[in-house]
Amino acid sequence: MRTTIGIIGGGPAGLLLARLLHRAGIDCVVLESRTRAYAEHRQRAGMLEQGTVDALRECGAADRLEVDGLVHNGIELRFDRERHHIDFPVLTGGRTVTIYAQTEIVKDLIALQLADGPQLLFEAEAVAIERPESDTPVVRFVHQGREQSLTCDWVVGCDGFHGIARDTFPAALSRTYEHDYPYSWLGVLADVPPSCEELIYARGEGGFALHSMRSPSVSRLYLQVPNETFPDDWPDERIWDELSARFAIDADWHLERGPITAKSVTPMRSYVHEPMRHGRLLLAGDAAHIVPPTGAKGLNLAVSDVRLAARALIELHRTGSAQLLDRYSELCLDRVWQATRFSYDMTRMLHADPDGDAFEHRLQLARLRRITASRPAAAELAANYTGLPLPL
Ligand code: FAD
Ligand code: DHB
Repeated sequence: MRTTIGIIGGGPAGLLLARLLHRAGIDCVVLESRTRAYAEHRQRAGMLEQGTVDALRECGAADRLEVDGLVHNGIELRFDRERHHIDFPVLTGGRTVTIYAQTEIVKDLIALQLADGPQLLFEAEAVAIERPESDTPVVRFVHQGREQSLTCDWVVGCDGFHGIARDTFPAALSRTYEHDYPYSWLGVLADVPPSCEELIYARGEGGFALHSMRSPSVSRLYLQVPNETFPDDWPDERIWDELSARFAIDADWHLERGPITAKSVTPMRSYVHEPMRHGRLLLAGDAAHIVPPTGAKGLNLAVSDVRLAARALIELHRTGSAQLLDRYSELCLDRVWQATRFSYDMTRMLHADPDGDAFEHRLQLARLRRITASRPAAAELAANYTGLPLPL
Protein backbone atom coordinates (compact mmCIF):
# COMPACT_ATOMS: atom_id res chain seq x y z
CA MET A 1 0.00 0.00 0.00
CA ARG A 2 1.10 3.60 -0.59
CA THR A 3 -0.07 6.81 1.06
CA THR A 4 1.23 10.32 1.79
CA ILE A 5 0.82 10.26 5.58
CA GLY A 6 0.71 6.97 7.49
CA ILE A 7 -1.02 7.42 10.86
CA ILE A 8 -0.55 4.76 13.53
CA GLY A 9 -3.38 4.73 16.09
CA GLY A 10 -7.06 5.53 15.80
CA GLY A 11 -7.50 7.26 19.16
CA PRO A 12 -8.51 10.93 19.31
CA ALA A 13 -5.07 12.10 18.08
CA GLY A 14 -4.87 9.85 15.02
CA LEU A 15 -8.51 10.32 14.01
CA LEU A 16 -8.42 14.11 14.32
CA LEU A 17 -5.17 14.34 12.38
CA ALA A 18 -6.65 12.23 9.59
CA ARG A 19 -9.67 14.54 9.46
CA LEU A 20 -7.57 17.73 9.32
CA LEU A 21 -5.32 16.32 6.56
CA HIS A 22 -8.23 14.93 4.57
CA ARG A 23 -9.93 18.33 4.56
CA ALA A 24 -6.73 19.87 3.22
CA GLY A 25 -6.68 17.33 0.39
CA ILE A 26 -3.81 15.25 1.79
CA ASP A 27 -4.07 11.51 1.42
CA CYS A 28 -3.58 9.38 4.56
CA VAL A 29 -4.29 5.96 6.07
CA VAL A 30 -5.05 5.24 9.75
CA LEU A 31 -4.04 1.90 11.27
CA GLU A 32 -5.84 0.99 14.53
CA SER A 33 -4.93 -2.22 16.34
CA ARG A 34 -8.26 -2.62 18.19
CA THR A 35 -11.81 -3.27 17.03
CA ARG A 36 -14.16 -0.36 16.37
CA ALA A 37 -16.30 -1.32 19.39
CA TYR A 38 -13.28 -1.34 21.71
CA ALA A 39 -12.03 2.03 20.45
CA GLU A 40 -15.50 3.55 20.88
CA HIS A 41 -16.10 2.36 24.43
CA ARG A 42 -12.80 2.92 26.24
CA GLN A 43 -13.80 5.24 29.14
CA ARG A 44 -11.39 8.11 29.56
CA ALA A 45 -11.34 11.87 29.37
CA GLY A 46 -14.22 14.29 29.53
CA MET A 47 -12.99 17.85 29.92
CA LEU A 48 -12.25 19.78 26.73
CA GLU A 49 -10.43 23.09 26.48
CA GLN A 50 -11.84 25.77 24.21
CA GLY A 51 -9.07 25.09 21.65
CA THR A 52 -10.03 21.41 21.50
CA VAL A 53 -13.67 22.28 20.88
CA ASP A 54 -12.62 24.79 18.21
CA ALA A 55 -10.46 22.17 16.46
CA LEU A 56 -13.36 19.69 16.36
CA ARG A 57 -15.65 22.44 15.07
CA GLU A 58 -13.18 23.49 12.35
CA CYS A 59 -13.07 20.01 10.91
CA GLY A 60 -16.83 19.48 10.94
CA ALA A 61 -16.82 16.97 13.83
CA ALA A 62 -18.77 18.99 16.39
CA ASP A 63 -22.43 18.52 15.41
CA ARG A 64 -23.25 16.27 18.38
CA LEU A 65 -20.86 18.14 20.65
CA GLU A 66 -22.82 21.38 20.01
CA VAL A 67 -25.99 19.67 21.24
CA ASP A 68 -24.74 17.38 24.03
CA GLY A 69 -21.57 19.17 25.21
CA LEU A 70 -21.98 20.84 28.60
CA VAL A 71 -20.33 24.27 28.70
CA HIS A 72 -18.84 25.03 32.14
CA ASN A 73 -17.95 28.45 33.46
CA GLY A 74 -15.71 27.23 36.24
CA ILE A 75 -14.84 24.55 38.74
CA GLU A 76 -15.35 24.19 42.45
CA LEU A 77 -12.48 23.58 44.86
CA ARG A 78 -13.35 21.92 48.17
CA PHE A 79 -11.11 21.72 51.20
CA ASP A 80 -11.47 22.26 54.95
CA ARG A 81 -15.21 21.43 54.55
CA GLU A 82 -15.71 24.60 52.46
CA ARG A 83 -16.55 25.16 48.79
CA HIS A 84 -14.97 27.82 46.52
CA HIS A 85 -16.03 28.71 42.99
CA ILE A 86 -13.29 29.50 40.42
CA ASP A 87 -14.94 31.62 37.74
CA PHE A 88 -13.18 31.02 34.41
CA PRO A 89 -14.79 33.72 32.20
CA VAL A 90 -14.18 36.40 34.83
CA LEU A 91 -10.58 35.32 35.43
CA THR A 92 -9.58 34.67 31.80
CA GLY A 93 -11.48 37.25 29.79
CA GLY A 94 -14.28 34.94 28.74
CA ARG A 95 -12.85 31.43 28.40
CA THR A 96 -14.91 28.34 29.25
CA VAL A 97 -14.44 24.54 29.09
CA THR A 98 -16.79 21.85 27.77
CA ILE A 99 -17.67 18.44 29.16
CA TYR A 100 -18.05 15.92 26.34
CA ALA A 101 -16.74 12.37 26.64
CA GLN A 102 -13.71 11.16 24.72
CA THR A 103 -15.75 8.08 23.76
CA GLU A 104 -18.19 10.39 21.94
CA ILE A 105 -15.41 12.31 20.16
CA VAL A 106 -13.98 9.02 18.94
CA LYS A 107 -17.44 7.84 17.77
CA ASP A 108 -18.02 11.14 15.92
CA LEU A 109 -14.62 11.05 14.18
CA ILE A 110 -14.92 7.36 13.24
CA ALA A 111 -18.39 7.93 11.75
CA LEU A 112 -17.13 10.84 9.62
CA GLN A 113 -14.09 8.92 8.49
CA LEU A 114 -16.04 5.81 7.52
CA ALA A 115 -18.52 8.00 5.63
CA ASP A 116 -16.09 9.90 3.41
CA GLY A 117 -12.57 8.70 4.12
CA PRO A 118 -9.65 8.64 4.47
CA GLN A 119 -9.02 4.95 4.91
CA LEU A 120 -9.25 3.60 8.47
CA LEU A 121 -8.33 -0.02 9.15
CA PHE A 122 -9.40 -1.65 12.44
CA GLU A 123 -7.54 -4.65 13.84
CA ALA A 124 -4.49 -3.43 11.92
CA GLU A 125 -1.54 -3.54 14.30
CA ALA A 126 1.65 -1.73 13.35
CA VAL A 127 4.63 -3.90 14.25
CA ALA A 128 7.55 -1.86 12.88
CA ILE A 129 8.48 1.45 11.25
CA GLU A 130 11.35 1.06 8.82
CA ARG A 131 13.72 3.71 7.47
CA PRO A 132 12.25 6.77 9.26
CA GLU A 133 15.36 8.72 8.16
CA SER A 134 14.64 8.07 4.47
CA ASP A 135 12.21 9.83 2.08
CA THR A 136 9.94 6.77 2.08
CA PRO A 137 9.43 5.36 5.58
CA VAL A 138 7.50 2.09 5.67
CA VAL A 139 5.05 0.90 8.33
CA ARG A 140 4.81 -2.87 8.65
CA PHE A 141 1.47 -3.98 10.05
CA VAL A 142 -0.62 -7.10 10.55
CA HIS A 143 -4.20 -6.99 9.28
CA GLN A 144 -6.52 -9.99 9.20
CA GLY A 145 -3.59 -12.24 10.04
CA ARG A 146 -1.51 -11.03 7.10
CA GLU A 147 1.62 -8.90 7.34
CA GLN A 148 1.47 -5.91 4.98
CA SER A 149 3.45 -2.75 4.40
CA LEU A 150 2.41 0.86 4.03
CA THR A 151 4.93 3.10 2.25
CA CYS A 152 4.55 6.76 3.19
CA ASP A 153 6.09 10.21 2.74
CA TRP A 154 5.68 10.79 6.48
CA VAL A 155 4.57 8.66 9.44
CA VAL A 156 2.81 10.04 12.53
CA GLY A 157 2.84 7.85 15.65
CA CYS A 158 -0.47 8.50 17.45
CA ASP A 159 -0.39 5.05 19.04
CA GLY A 160 -0.70 6.03 22.70
CA PHE A 161 1.60 5.28 25.60
CA HIS A 162 1.95 1.56 24.82
CA GLY A 163 2.49 1.97 21.08
CA ILE A 164 5.57 1.16 19.01
CA ALA A 165 6.40 4.49 17.34
CA ARG A 166 8.38 5.91 20.25
CA ASP A 167 10.64 2.83 20.33
CA THR A 168 11.67 3.49 16.72
CA PHE A 169 13.72 6.51 17.84
CA PRO A 170 17.43 5.67 18.13
CA ALA A 171 18.43 5.29 21.79
CA ALA A 172 21.19 7.87 21.30
CA LEU A 173 18.59 10.48 20.29
CA SER A 174 15.88 9.74 22.90
CA ARG A 175 15.66 11.48 26.24
CA THR A 176 12.90 10.47 28.65
CA TYR A 177 11.69 12.13 31.83
CA GLU A 178 9.40 10.25 34.22
CA HIS A 179 7.71 10.62 37.57
CA ASP A 180 5.43 8.10 39.29
CA TYR A 181 2.98 9.18 41.96
CA PRO A 182 2.28 7.19 45.14
CA TYR A 183 -1.48 6.84 44.42
CA SER A 184 -3.95 5.88 41.67
CA TRP A 185 -7.48 6.85 40.68
CA LEU A 186 -10.53 4.63 40.94
CA GLY A 187 -12.93 5.96 38.28
CA VAL A 188 -16.64 5.11 38.20
CA LEU A 189 -19.52 5.84 35.89
CA ALA A 190 -22.93 5.98 37.61
CA ASP A 191 -26.49 6.24 36.37
CA VAL A 192 -27.39 9.16 38.59
CA PRO A 193 -27.82 12.87 37.84
CA PRO A 194 -24.72 14.85 38.88
CA SER A 195 -24.97 16.36 42.37
CA CYS A 196 -23.28 19.53 41.12
CA GLU A 197 -23.40 21.97 38.24
CA GLU A 198 -19.68 22.27 37.80
CA LEU A 199 -16.78 19.88 38.41
CA ILE A 200 -15.73 19.51 42.05
CA TYR A 201 -12.05 18.95 42.88
CA ALA A 202 -11.93 18.01 46.56
CA ARG A 203 -9.02 17.62 48.98
CA GLY A 204 -10.91 15.69 51.63
CA GLU A 205 -9.48 14.35 54.88
CA GLY A 206 -9.10 10.88 53.31
CA GLY A 207 -7.61 12.22 50.08
CA PHE A 208 -8.67 13.49 46.66
CA ALA A 209 -12.05 13.07 44.97
CA LEU A 210 -13.39 14.50 41.69
CA HIS A 211 -17.02 14.84 40.69
CA SER A 212 -17.51 15.10 36.93
CA MET A 213 -20.36 14.14 34.64
CA ARG A 214 -21.23 12.81 31.22
CA SER A 215 -24.81 14.04 30.80
CA PRO A 216 -27.68 15.36 32.93
CA SER A 217 -28.35 11.74 33.98
CA VAL A 218 -24.87 10.20 34.17
CA SER A 219 -22.14 11.06 36.70
CA ARG A 220 -18.42 10.37 36.43
CA LEU A 221 -16.55 10.24 39.72
CA TYR A 222 -12.95 9.60 40.73
CA LEU A 223 -11.39 8.67 44.05
CA GLN A 224 -7.74 8.63 45.10
CA VAL A 225 -6.81 5.04 46.06
CA PRO A 226 -3.48 3.37 46.93
CA ASN A 227 -1.35 2.01 44.09
CA GLU A 228 -1.99 -1.69 43.33
CA THR A 229 -5.71 -1.31 44.18
CA PHE A 230 -8.10 -3.66 42.34
CA PRO A 231 -11.54 -2.32 41.41
CA ASP A 232 -13.12 -5.28 43.22
CA ASP A 233 -11.52 -4.11 46.48
CA TRP A 234 -14.16 -1.39 46.36
CA PRO A 235 -17.80 -2.58 46.54
CA ASP A 236 -20.26 0.12 45.45
CA GLU A 237 -21.37 1.11 48.97
CA ARG A 238 -17.77 1.63 50.03
CA ILE A 239 -17.19 3.90 47.00
CA TRP A 240 -20.24 6.04 47.73
CA ASP A 241 -19.39 6.28 51.46
CA GLU A 242 -15.85 7.39 50.72
CA LEU A 243 -16.91 9.87 48.02
CA SER A 244 -19.51 11.37 50.39
CA ALA A 245 -16.89 11.75 53.12
CA ARG A 246 -14.35 13.43 50.82
CA PHE A 247 -16.86 15.89 49.33
CA ALA A 248 -18.44 16.70 52.73
CA ILE A 249 -18.81 20.41 53.57
CA ASP A 250 -20.38 22.33 56.43
CA ALA A 251 -23.42 23.28 54.35
CA ASP A 252 -26.57 21.69 53.05
CA TRP A 253 -25.18 19.49 50.23
CA HIS A 254 -25.24 15.79 49.68
CA LEU A 255 -24.05 13.33 47.06
CA GLU A 256 -26.78 11.45 45.19
CA ARG A 257 -26.11 7.72 44.77
CA GLY A 258 -27.09 5.44 41.91
CA PRO A 259 -26.12 2.22 40.11
CA ILE A 260 -22.42 2.07 39.18
CA THR A 261 -22.04 0.83 35.59
CA ALA A 262 -18.22 0.87 35.15
CA LYS A 263 -15.22 0.82 37.49
CA SER A 264 -11.51 1.02 36.68
CA VAL A 265 -8.20 1.95 38.30
CA THR A 266 -5.64 4.25 36.62
CA PRO A 267 -2.11 4.73 37.92
CA MET A 268 -0.74 8.28 37.88
CA ARG A 269 2.39 9.05 35.95
CA SER A 270 4.16 11.92 34.21
CA TYR A 271 6.29 10.99 31.21
CA VAL A 272 7.86 13.03 28.41
CA HIS A 273 9.84 11.71 25.45
CA GLU A 274 12.12 14.16 23.63
CA PRO A 275 12.37 14.89 20.77
CA MET A 276 8.97 14.37 19.10
CA ARG A 277 10.39 14.04 15.59
CA HIS A 278 13.00 11.77 14.07
CA GLY A 279 13.52 12.05 10.30
CA ARG A 280 10.08 11.62 8.76
CA LEU A 281 8.46 10.20 11.90
CA LEU A 282 6.48 12.50 14.20
CA LEU A 283 4.99 11.55 17.58
CA ALA A 284 1.70 13.05 18.80
CA GLY A 285 -0.37 12.68 21.99
CA ASP A 286 0.14 9.95 24.58
CA ALA A 287 2.71 8.31 22.29
CA ALA A 288 5.11 11.08 23.35
CA HIS A 289 3.88 12.16 26.80
CA ILE A 290 1.44 11.42 29.57
CA VAL A 291 0.32 13.48 32.54
CA PRO A 292 -1.66 12.57 35.66
CA PRO A 293 -5.34 13.30 34.94
CA THR A 294 -5.86 15.88 37.73
CA GLY A 295 -5.34 18.82 35.37
CA ALA A 296 -7.49 17.23 32.59
CA LYS A 297 -4.71 17.85 30.08
CA GLY A 298 -3.93 14.53 28.28
CA LEU A 299 -6.54 14.63 25.53
CA ASN A 300 -6.18 18.37 25.13
CA LEU A 301 -2.42 18.05 24.65
CA ALA A 302 -2.96 15.27 22.11
CA VAL A 303 -5.24 17.64 20.19
CA SER A 304 -2.78 20.54 20.29
CA ASP A 305 0.08 18.30 19.04
CA VAL A 306 -2.11 17.18 16.18
CA ARG A 307 -3.13 20.72 15.27
CA LEU A 308 0.55 21.64 15.00
CA ALA A 309 1.38 18.46 13.06
CA ALA A 310 -1.47 19.13 10.62
CA ARG A 311 -0.38 22.75 10.13
CA ALA A 312 3.21 21.70 9.49
CA LEU A 313 2.29 18.91 7.05
CA ILE A 314 -0.20 21.14 5.22
CA GLU A 315 2.41 23.90 4.91
CA LEU A 316 4.83 21.40 3.38
CA HIS A 317 2.15 20.14 1.00
CA ARG A 318 1.07 23.64 -0.11
CA THR A 319 4.35 25.53 -0.21
CA GLY A 320 7.10 22.92 -0.08
CA SER A 321 8.43 24.58 3.09
CA ALA A 322 9.51 22.28 5.93
CA GLN A 323 10.09 25.20 8.32
CA LEU A 324 7.24 24.31 10.65
CA LEU A 325 8.08 20.62 10.54
CA ASP A 326 11.61 21.52 11.62
CA ARG A 327 10.15 23.31 14.66
CA TYR A 328 7.45 20.71 15.40
CA SER A 329 9.19 19.07 18.35
CA GLU A 330 10.26 22.34 19.98
CA LEU A 331 6.79 23.93 19.58
CA CYS A 332 4.96 20.92 21.01
CA LEU A 333 7.37 20.34 23.87
CA ASP A 334 7.01 23.89 25.17
CA ARG A 335 3.27 23.31 25.71
CA VAL A 336 3.86 19.75 26.92
CA TRP A 337 6.15 20.93 29.71
CA GLN A 338 3.70 23.66 30.74
CA ALA A 339 0.93 21.05 30.97
CA THR A 340 3.27 18.66 32.79
CA ARG A 341 4.04 21.34 35.36
CA PHE A 342 0.37 22.25 35.83
CA SER A 343 -0.75 18.61 36.12
CA TYR A 344 2.01 17.90 38.65
CA ASP A 345 1.12 20.94 40.77
CA MET A 346 -2.63 20.17 40.73
CA THR A 347 -1.93 16.53 41.62
CA ARG A 348 0.45 17.35 44.48
CA MET A 349 -1.84 20.06 45.83
CA LEU A 350 -4.96 17.90 45.97
CA HIS A 351 -3.89 14.34 46.89
CA ALA A 352 -3.02 12.97 50.33
CA ASP A 353 0.60 11.80 50.09
CA PRO A 354 0.85 8.45 51.90
CA ASP A 355 4.47 9.31 52.78
CA GLY A 356 3.70 12.95 53.61
CA ASP A 357 3.40 14.47 57.06
CA ALA A 358 1.22 17.09 58.76
CA PHE A 359 3.56 19.83 57.53
CA GLU A 360 2.95 18.88 53.89
CA HIS A 361 -0.78 18.78 54.50
CA ARG A 362 -0.69 22.30 55.91
CA LEU A 363 1.26 23.47 52.85
CA GLN A 364 -1.39 21.97 50.57
CA LEU A 365 -4.10 23.86 52.44
CA ALA A 366 -2.05 27.06 52.26
CA ARG A 367 -1.72 26.65 48.47
CA LEU A 368 -5.46 26.07 48.13
CA ARG A 369 -6.23 29.06 50.35
CA ARG A 370 -3.93 31.25 48.28
CA ILE A 371 -5.85 30.32 45.13
CA THR A 372 -9.19 31.09 46.69
CA ALA A 373 -8.00 34.31 48.36
CA SER A 374 -5.91 35.91 45.62
CA ARG A 375 -7.27 36.86 42.22
CA PRO A 376 -3.88 36.53 40.44
CA ALA A 377 -3.40 33.05 41.95
CA ALA A 378 -6.91 32.00 40.84
CA ALA A 379 -6.30 33.57 37.40
CA GLU A 380 -3.13 31.51 37.00
CA LEU A 381 -5.07 28.30 37.71
CA ALA A 382 -7.88 29.36 35.36
CA ALA A 383 -5.45 30.23 32.50
CA ASN A 384 -3.77 26.82 32.71
CA TYR A 385 -6.98 24.83 33.21
CA THR A 386 -8.81 26.43 30.28
CA GLY A 387 -5.70 25.97 28.11
CA LEU A 388 -2.64 28.03 27.25
CA PRO A 389 -2.62 29.42 23.69
CA LEU A 390 -1.08 27.48 20.82
CA PRO A 391 2.35 28.88 19.96
CA LEU A 392 1.27 29.78 16.39
P1 FAD B 1 -4.92 6.91 22.82
O1 FAD B 1 -6.27 7.41 23.18
O2 FAD B 1 -4.23 5.98 23.75
O3 FAD B 1 -5.02 6.24 21.38
C1 FAD B 1 -3.97 5.46 20.84
C2 FAD B 1 -4.57 4.47 19.86
O4 FAD B 1 -3.52 3.75 19.21
C3 FAD B 1 -5.44 3.44 20.55
O5 FAD B 1 -6.68 3.38 19.90
C4 FAD B 1 -4.65 2.14 20.43
O6 FAD B 1 -5.48 1.01 20.34
C5 FAD B 1 -3.86 2.38 19.13
N1 FAD B 1 -2.61 1.62 19.03
C6 FAD B 1 -1.69 1.36 19.99
N2 FAD B 1 -0.66 0.65 19.51
C7 FAD B 1 -0.93 0.45 18.20
C8 FAD B 1 -0.24 -0.24 17.13
N3 FAD B 1 0.93 -0.85 17.35
N4 FAD B 1 -0.79 -0.25 15.90
C9 FAD B 1 -1.98 0.37 15.66
N5 FAD B 1 -2.68 1.03 16.63
C10 FAD B 1 -2.16 1.07 17.87
N6 FAD B 1 -7.37 14.02 29.16
C11 FAD B 1 -7.97 15.24 29.07
O7 FAD B 1 -7.56 16.07 28.26
N7 FAD B 1 -9.06 15.57 29.86
C12 FAD B 1 -9.53 14.71 30.79
O8 FAD B 1 -10.54 15.03 31.44
C13 FAD B 1 -8.86 13.43 30.94
N8 FAD B 1 -9.29 12.53 31.85
C14 FAD B 1 -8.74 11.29 31.86
C15 FAD B 1 -9.22 10.37 32.80
C16 FAD B 1 -8.68 9.10 32.84
C17 FAD B 1 -9.21 8.12 33.86
C18 FAD B 1 -7.63 8.71 31.92
C19 FAD B 1 -7.05 7.31 31.93
C20 FAD B 1 -7.15 9.62 31.00
C21 FAD B 1 -7.68 10.92 30.98
N9 FAD B 1 -7.21 11.84 30.07
C22 FAD B 1 -7.77 13.10 30.05
C23 FAD B 1 -6.13 11.50 29.14
C24 FAD B 1 -6.64 11.12 27.73
O9 FAD B 1 -7.61 10.12 27.81
C25 FAD B 1 -5.47 10.68 26.83
O10 FAD B 1 -4.45 11.64 26.93
C26 FAD B 1 -5.91 10.52 25.34
O11 FAD B 1 -6.58 9.29 25.18
C27 FAD B 1 -4.71 10.56 24.38
O12 FAD B 1 -5.13 10.31 23.08
P2 FAD B 1 -4.18 9.59 22.01
O13 FAD B 1 -4.96 9.50 20.75
O14 FAD B 1 -2.86 10.25 22.03
O15 FAD B 1 -3.91 8.13 22.61
C1 DHB C 1 -12.66 14.34 33.86
C2 DHB C 1 -11.44 13.74 34.06
C3 DHB C 1 -10.41 14.45 34.61
O1 DHB C 1 -9.21 13.90 34.79
C4 DHB C 1 -10.59 15.79 34.97
O2 DHB C 1 -9.56 16.46 35.54
C5 DHB C 1 -11.80 16.39 34.74
C6 DHB C 1 -12.84 15.66 34.17
C7 DHB C 1 -13.75 13.54 33.27
O3 DHB C 1 -13.54 12.35 32.99
O4 DHB C 1 -14.86 14.08 33.12
